[in-house]
Amino acid sequence: MDPYTIDRSSNFRRQAVADWLFGLELVAPELREKIVTAWVSTWSSSPYAELAEMPYSPGAPHYRLQDHVNDVTRAGLDLAQRAAADWGQHADPNVLVPILILHDVDKPLMYVRESADKVGYSQLSRELQHGVVGAMLLKELGFDHTVISTVATHAGNSPFHGSNFEAYVLHYADYFATDHAIMREPGDRQPYYQKHWR
Ligand SMILES: [Fe+2]
Ligand SMILES: [Fe+2]
Repeated sequence: MDPYTIDRSSNFRRQAVADWLFGLELVAPELREKIVTAWVSTWSSSPYAELAEMPYSPGAPHYRLQDHVNDVTRAGLDLAQRAAADWGQHADPNVLVPILILHDVDKPLMYVRESADKVGYSQLSRELQHGVVGAMLLKELGFDHTVISTVATHAGNSPFHGSNFEAYVLHYADYFATDHAIMREPGDRQPYYQKHWR
């Protein structure tokens, strides 16, 4: 069974995705439409009726994927602006913005809500790792290779991360936002920044 189907027709979903995603106006209209199609496709292929129901991860079961995605886009744009101003290092917005917005596009297919306090893993997540499914979708939609390869390898458990500047910006934006989500959880879940070699 295909893990997802490309959905270009679901207009109520297109509107909801466009209303949700921060930063869409920073890219050209054609690219904006492809970004919206990518999210509409994983949403309509997922078990979730509403965007707000999509869980962020098993490690932070109370956080919404919807919030994490915009957290990362905003933090990434701030970091990129800082690097440009202080270091003269410029990201390509047509690469950076899709990477930030789409890095977790496959998560609606990877995680399943088991209860209010528990998020588990889908069957698909045992067949292909997080990032790779998103990269497959982006390849089908005709995104640039750098966007595809960065999404494919961005996850913490990837054997390596890309060496392009946009991958570095995504990494720190993602971990900054991820630790925020983890530290909001009840109990003593350990954020990444406090994990040390012992
Ligand atoms: Fe991710
Ligand atoms: Fe993320």
